[in-house]
Amino acid sequence: MYKHHSALGLVTAPTGRSAAEIAHYRPVQPVTLLRPHAATRAARFFAERFPGKSLYAVKANPSPDLLQVLWNAGVSHYDVASIGEVRLVAEVLPDATLCFMHPVKAEEAIAEAYFTYGVRTFSLDTIEELEKIVRATSGGDGTAASDLNLLVRLRVSSAHSKLSLAAKFGAEPAELKQLLMATRQAADAMGICYHVGSQAMSPAAYSDAMERVREAIVDAAVTVDIVDVGGGFPSWYPGMEPPALEQYFEVIHAAFEALPISYSAELWCEPGRALCAEYASVLVRVEKRRGSELYINDGAYGALFDAAHIGWRYPVRLVRDGGSEVKPAAFSFYGPTCDDLDHMAGPFKLPADVGPGDYIEVGMLGAYGCAMRTGFNGFGIEDRVIVDDEPMASLYADEEREQRSNVVKL
Ligand SMILES: Cc1ncc(COP(=O)(O)O)c(C=O)c1O
Repeated sequence: MYKHHSALGLVTAPTGRSAAEIAHYRPVQPVTLLRPHAATRAARFFAERFPGKSLYAVKANPSPDLLQVLWNAGVSHYDVASIGEVRLVAEVLPDATLCFMHPVKAEEAIAEAYFTYGVRTFSLDTIEELEKIVRATSGGDGTAASDLNLLVRLRVSSAHSKLSLAAKFGAEPAELKQLLMATRQAADAMGICYHVGSQAMSPAAYSDAMERVREAIVDAAVTVDIVDVGGGFPSWYPGMEPPALEQYFEVIHAAFEALPISYSAELWCEPGRALCAEYASVLVRVEKRRGSELYINDGAYGALFDAAHIGWRYPVRLVRDGGSEVKPAAFSFYGPTCDDLDHMAGPFKLPADVGPGDYIEVGMLGAYGCAMRTGFNGFGIEDRVIVDDEPMASLYADEEREQRSNVVKL
């Protein structure tokens, strides 16, 4: 019965389908459970409560189905970081506004984005990149483009975040003033952007970064039209329970309002993880148990890249008829490939009697999980179904938000 569904690829399930119902089919391959309602809820939350414009960072999950869900929920701007993402989003959402926010781009990619896809917004962190953008977007007669939105990327601390983005990109402090002044000359609208690192566990990450923005503006004495606070908005994982997102928005809004910029300046953000983590989970089957190690049918080369490579802990739950009364114990996972590296240390807490033939839902894999899948060792085949039960945790479901805001205060 399940095989039939596999052949169809994405299965639009009748309403009311849940992870437990999918497990009833006893699928042999891992199954990605998609929750469009969760992505819609996240997008609406940002649209209604973030005090500016939200761009979706496509790298977190470039699935065309998700892009369509976010578009339908009102997300009109997309942070793309490669020409592949530019082409993809332009094809799926021809009316979307694309912002090419990778500070190191191929000149050919800039030209294609500008001339073929109408991209006008680019980020940069060196004079060389600025020159590249100006060259690639000039007309045949060498006339410089007059419609560029250029955002200078600042290097800011990742101290509050679980995943650092502080080493690779960001203008050198000694070059910043000159870079801002030169960019101002080339830009129609000029902005400053940064990224505080992914899964920022405190709103202070953003206020600290805004202080760097203030210093940069004062030092270079330039007019700034856009302040883009990047991604980094957290999701919920075991051992990483963040404060309510409203607290981040309040801190950002207050810091933005205090900047020496004009009233017409715009505030942007580029959430990836926060918009799509709850969108997908993966239902895996246990093929073998060796003590506290479970051999499951997805892993490091599938949706669990971060669990294996950086020890990210995802929520897990046993999906078994009648559940289990047995107390939880700590398990690690091995994925299906023949590679020792295909190992997820966890610990993952599951009922102590879990064993071969059981199904486990691994939650919050919508961001940087499904996007990382490979076909290594012949294990990449993936079935996807839409379910409409709740994700394993949510920063957006009203009830959970209330509990969270009672527990965690700034
Ligand atoms: C430029 C940029 N913007 C946004 C994001 C999305 O970050 P997050 O998923 O932490 O929200 C990233 C992630 O690497 C990024 O590099």
